[in-house]
Amino acid sequence: MIVSLVSFSILILLSACSDQPADKTYVIKFSHVTSANTPKGLAADLFRQKVEERLNGKVVVEVYPSSQLMNDDDSIEALAFNEIQMTAVSASKYNRYTKKLQVFDLPFIFNDMAAVGRFFEHPEGQKLLTILEDKGFTGLGFWPNGLKQLSANTPLIVPADAEGLKFRIQESDVLEAQFLAVNANPQKLAFSEVYQALQVGTIDGQDNTWSNIYSEKFYEVQDHITETNHNMLVYVWMVNTEFWQGLPQDTRSELTLIVDEVNAAIMAMAIEVNDGDRAKIFEKDPDKFIELSAAQLAQWRAAMKPVWDQFRDEIGEELITAALESNNP
Ligand code: LMR
Repeated sequence: MIVSLVSFSILILLSACSDQPADKTYVIKFSHVTSANTPKGLAADLFRQKVEERLNGKVVVEVYPSSQLMNDDDSIEALAFNEIQMTAVSASKYNRYTKKLQVFDLPFIFNDMAAVGRFFEHPEGQKLLTILEDKGFTGLGFWPNGLKQLSANTPLIVPADAEGLKFRIQESDVLEAQFLAVNANPQKLAFSEVYQALQVGTIDGQDNTWSNIYSEKFYEVQDHITETNHNMLVYVWMVNTEFWQGLPQDTRSELTLIVDEVNAAIMAMAIEVNDGDRAKIFEKDPDKFIELSAAQLAQWRAAMKPVWDQFRDEIGEELITAALESNNP
């Protein structure tokens, strides 16, 4: 009798300590700006699907693609206030919060997707996932999209061809400096506004991955695409820290397993989507493609590379060294 009274009291005490009822449903609003059939769209959906299969309705993920809910800048703010719980905004757009993530924007720093994949695993890369915790963001992983290409209505073969042209860029000082380095005129613009700006001619060109050029139909309003592979487009998968820490332990453990599975799957998906979208654009209009010779590509590298020195102190030598080391298998 005494024993059962004690266990009953413990039970009462335990339920009083837990601040959430056992049957509480947690909703994760995940807002992003690309369409569902992009590397990011597929990864967000894979996460949603796995949560649906494994969390028995305890956690519900609502994915809002294509800037349906908001643009990237607003989503970073909404994440800080827990109005949405997850985003995967490109590293470039955290410029206002940290300079460190700009390492991903340095022109020509990563040779290929395998290199950036190694950097994600590097201790210096891993450290980047926690640098915004004091702002309320916990990094769950890096998601690659791919290497970026340049497009315009006039052929871009050597850096001098970019002179005076207005290029849309993301919110990033490094990207701004990179276009200034080739005497172009960079314009910061939200992703959802790029198609129209190209169409009406308020900008002359842009740079993005094959996946974004295809899914946003930028190729329809650009006469030439030059295969430069000059930048890497990387997202940081973020969750609101308070929301994440407030989840019951067992729920967070299961979600962490799912997070790891999605992180492990994204690289192959990103490569496949970008290769496929490149091929689709090529099929539609092979004449749009400009492939550069090694000597021409070397000119773009030489023109843009001085940007590294401009940002070396802000980003930190250790991160740049780690990124360069990642080019070696
Ligand atoms: C861009 O603004 O070009 C990209 O960050 C969009 C995206 O999320 O891929």
